[in-house]
Amino acid sequence: MRNSGVLGDIGYLATCKDSGRQADIYPIQDAAIAFENGRIVWVGQESNLPIELGILERFSAGGRTVIPGLVDCHTHLAFSGWRADEFRMRIEGKGYLDIAAAGGGIRKTMAQTRLASEEDLLEHCLTYAQKYLQIGVTAIECKTGYGLSLEAELKLLRVYRQLALKVPQNVVSTLLAAHIIPPDEKCNRECYIKMICEELIPFVASENLASFNDIFVEQGAYTAAEADHILSVGLTHGLIPKLHVDQLSDGGGGELAARVGAISADHLEFTTDKGIEAMSRARVTAVCLPFASLYLNQPPMKARSFLDAGVNVAVATDFNPGSAPCYDLPLAMMLACTMSRMTPAEAVKGATLMASKAIGKDHDYGSIEIGKRANFVELEVPDVEHWLYHFRSDTCSKTWIDGSVFYKKN
Ligand code: NIG
Ligand code: FE
Repeated sequence: MRNSGVLGDIGYLATCKDSGRQADIYPIQDAAIAFENGRIVWVGQESNLPIELGILERFSAGGRTVIPGLVDCHTHLAFSGWRADEFRMRIEGKGYLDIAAAGGGIRKTMAQTRLASEEDLLEHCLTYAQKYLQIGVTAIECKTGYGLSLEAELKLLRVYRQLALKVPQNVVSTLLAAHIIPPDEKCNRECYIKMICEELIPFVASENLASFNDIFVEQGAYTAAEADHILSVGLTHGLIPKLHVDQLSDGGGGELAARVGAISADHLEFTTDKGIEAMSRARVTAVCLPFASLYLNQPPMKARSFLDAGVNVAVATDFNPGSAPCYDLPLAMMLACTMSRMTPAEAVKGATLMASKAIGKDHDYGSIEIGKRANFVELEVPDVEHWLYHFRSDTCSKTWIDGSVFYKKN
C-alpha cells in the first residue's frame, strides 16, 4: 500500500489533539503513528500498537520528538524585490506609514511585482516552498496584495494555483486585493473598490482561485466601513473573510472581525479588551505575527489576554518583503513565547492545530489524530519545551506529508 506505514520509536509525540485548552498538546511518550493511504489510522503508545497494523512497513523516528506538520497560515509569498533600504530607514527613525506615504512600502513592492513574469514569481515561490520543507512546514496560506489591479491580482492567484500543483505542501490562496489603494490617476478609491467588488471577486470565486478574502484595515489602507462592504460582497460569492487589523493602531478590529464572521483576525497588536471579548464570542481565531511586531518595533500582540478569554491563537510568519522578511516559522514560535507570552506548548498548538483552524483546514490536518493527513515533523530535540527554549535553526530532521518523506536532513 502506498503512503502507508508505522512511524515508531518516537521519544516524545505532541499530538495537539483538538480538545481542551491551547496549552494541552496531549503528549505521548514512546509513541507510534500508523497511517494508510496518507491518512492516520492509529496513534498511541507503541506497546499498544494493534497486531493487525504490524504488517505495515516500519519506520523509526530514532527516539526523536514528533509534532504535527507545521502550518504557516499567513504569508504574502508571491512578491518581487526586497526592501532592505526601508529596514535601515526604520532603524534610523522613519515610520512604516511615512515610508509608505513617500512611495515606499507596499507600493514599491507592487510596482516590482507587476513587472515580474508569472514564471519568475512561481520560481520565487518554489524556492521558499522548498525552504519551508526543510523547517517542517507542510501547509502554506498565500495572499495576493502586491498586484493591486485586476490583471496583476489574477496573475498572483494563477501563480499560487501552479504552486499548489508543484509542491507537496497544501497551498491555500487568499485574495488581498484590498491591501492598499493603488496609485492610479484613472481609477480612484471608489473606482478601485468597485472593481474589486464587481469584477475581481466574482471572477475569483467563479474560477475557484481563492478561498478567503482579506483586507488591511489601517490609516493609509482601508476603513472598517469599506472592509464591511468588501467582505460582505465576498461572502455572497463564497469567499470567507479574513482581516489584517489593529496592527499599528486600534481600529476596532476585534469587533469588526466578529461582526463580519471572519475566520481569523491577524496582527491585533492594539486590540482592546472589548475586541478580544467580541472575538471570543464569535469564535474568531487570532493570528499572532511576531516578526511584524519585531521588525516594525511595535508592541507585541498580547496573546495571553486572548488565550485567557478563550480565543484560539495561531502563530504565523507574515512572510513579506516589508514588515516581516523572514519565513522561519519555528523562530516566530519562539518569539511568540518570549514577546507574546505564549508557553511553548501553546505556540506549538498555535502553529499546527490553531493555524489550520485559521484557514479552515482543521478537519484535514493540524493535529495527529485518526482520519487526518499523515503530516508530521521529526525534531532532534528532547521535547517541545526544549525545542523553543534552546532555539536552533537545524532541528528538523524529517518532514512527512501525506505519509511520505519530503525532506530528510543529511
Ligand atoms: O501583514 N499590514 C499589511 N501588510 C503586510 C505588510 C506588507 C508590506 O509591508 O509589504 C503585513 O504586515
Ligand atoms: Fe500580512
